[in-house]
Amino acid sequence: MNYSRHTFKEPATVNILAVESSCDDTSAAVIQNGKILSNIVASQSVHEKYGGVVPELASRAHQQNIVPVIHQALSEANIAKSMLTAVAFTRGPGLLGSLLVGASFIKSMAYALDLPLLGVDHMQAHILAHFIDDPQPQFPFICLTVSGGHTQIVKVNSHLDMEVLGETQDDAVGEAFDKCAKLMGLPYPGGPYIDQLAQAGNSERFSFPATRMPDLHYSFSGIKTAFLNFLKKNERMSPDFIEENKADIAASLQSTLIQMLLEKLRMAAQETGIKEIAIAGGVSANKGLRNALKEEAEKYDWNVYLPKMEYCTDNAAMIAMTAYYQYQAGKFLDLRADPDARLHFMG
Ligand code: KG4
Ligand code: ZN
Repeated sequence: MNYSRHTFKEPATVNILAVESSCDDTSAAVIQNGKILSNIVASQSVHEKYGGVVPELASRAHQQNIVPVIHQALSEANIAKSMLTAVAFTRGPGLLGSLLVGASFIKSMAYALDLPLLGVDHMQAHILAHFIDDPQPQFPFICLTVSGGHTQIVKVNSHLDMEVLGETQDDAVGEAFDKCAKLMGLPYPGGPYIDQLAQAGNSERFSFPATRMPDLHYSFSGIKTAFLNFLKKNERMSPDFIEENKADIAASLQSTLIQMLLEKLRMAAQETGIKEIAIAGGVSANKGLRNALKEEAEKYDWNVYLPKMEYCTDNAAMIAMTAYYQYQAGKFLDLRADPDARLHFMG
């Protein structure tokens, strides 16, 4: 890690502006002494017609959104640029072209305003979203981080000390939701549509083979292929199969994915003896997963922490929260620091 010329000196009021631009949401937030004052998210609808995020279109949309989003975050927080103590950006992981927009903008602000620069790990930030409001998990806790790009079981020892105990070896669970939804003809991103349909469906009607990986690892690419074959086979016999059975298909698929997630989470809790359990990332908005976790909590005497809905999917509030801890630890970056599309838990 590079440290800039700035050394840590705690002023009375710490105001940090943070930007998130790792994928297809442009977001800016302001945090004051650890309390979020504003959190603006501009989502990009341009990708819907392509059935997935188109990297080049994402970085162009970030360029259009970043100035108004930052202005709105500062004005909602009632903070002028001259009142800022530091600025932060998402360093990775994510799409390089998207990350570069946030990084370049924030680095130029750091240079122009002579402010310390902070670079945040996106996955760490999803986990630290749990510290924005109460109740907060006690250390050490286990966090199942489930998003469109990642599926990880993380042991969180402190705000800035985290260990990945297991992770997917191929697709992320959010990707499995989205790809299967696409096969059903649902819009992108399909995770929330599957979730909604599943609420009215019978989850025991169909079964899909869950891939079991060794240790605390996951694999979600097999279920996508099994799902494609299942749909094709049934559509050959009945062309309207999906339309007539969509709720049961969604509920059965969702239930299989949730069971796969929970099996390894139970193993992690048992192996570590930790009963403080959290979930984070876009898929933590899934109602089926949230309900299943509450049931597990009763069964295994866990304390379960579910993020507020607004902090599940990508947002800059979680980047600001993480930046605040990094600020206190004096973890500043040099202005030459680049984003890192493959960043893997920098701690
Ligand atoms: O964390 P996130 O906003 O972006 C990444 O860092 O990837 O996660 C986006 C993922 C998408 O795959 C989306 O389908 C999924 O989160 N997602 C859901 C739900 N809401 C968002 N998946 C299942 N059920 C939901 N309710
Ligand atoms: Zn994310």
